[in-house]
Amino acid sequence: MAGYLVDDARKVTTHRLMEMKRQGKKIAMLTAYDYTTAQIVDGAGMDIILVGDSASNVMAGNTTTLPITLDQMIYHATSVMRGAKRALVVCDMPFGTYQVNATEGVSNAIRIMKESGCDALKLEGGVEILDTVKSILAAGIPVMGHLGLTPQSINKFGTYAVRAKEEAEAARLIADAHALEDTGCFAIVLEKIPADLGARVASELTIPVIGIGAGGGTDGQVLVVNDMLGMNKGFSPKFLRQYADLHTVMTDAIGQYITDVKNCDFPNSNEQY
Ligand code: KIV
Repeated sequence: MAGYLVDDARKVTTHRLMEMKRQGKKIAMLTAYDYTTAQIVDGAGMDIILVGDSASNVMAGNTTTLPITLDQMIYHATSVMRGAKRALVVCDMPFGTYQVNATEGVSNAIRIMKESGCDALKLEGGVEILDTVKSILAAGIPVMGHLGLTPQSINKFGTYAVRAKEEAEAARLIADAHALEDTGCFAIVLEKIPADLGARVASELTIPVIGIGAGGGTDGQVLVVNDMLGMNKGFSPKFLRQYADLHTVMTDAIGQYITDVKNCDFPNSNEQY
């Protein structure tokens, strides 16, 4: 069977993710923003591909996730959908497309689903967005929650430091997680919180809890693909494990190409018509 540790070749569904949690099987999730990367990530056996609004940072070079637009997210999600065959594809709703009110949130959610063909959406926030989450769910769209460090609120936080270290904020996060589960979310991402809090939320909830910088006690893990492949030299938070040094691999390959062109070593006689 193709892919690493894939024991079921069928398309991953929200139902299967719940089953994986019940069976104690960890869930692997990674971002992708384009067709080629999605093909590789999917072919390797990923359970969930997230078309993250981190595209704003790693694809467009912005310092925050705030500037990316609905049309840009739909473009990325559409490209990923062409490359992903098995993984469940979740697309982030970008900043400003669901915070105004539930009506606007639902119509933007429907646009992403209709135009990209993705499987589910992710929204940042807890009780403050519950009405919108309810309305999107009522439209038949699966929703993944996102709590802890929510990068769309960076201007409110003022820092990317670890969240919910204090008891009051941890209690709010736990209440938000239960509220999202009770409303009908199929999973929740917890970003950059203490490991014991991540484990506690995962043990209290029946839906899968996927962590990024939330310790090993969650039901699964998510990373940004460019970061875990070592493409971004300047970004090395404690939670990030780099599985490759693509920055060096690519720089060396590109440097060799430049050298070959300038030395008239490329193309050779076999590389021309
Ligand atoms: O946009 C993103 O990549 C994310 C992950 C960090 C979970 O939301």
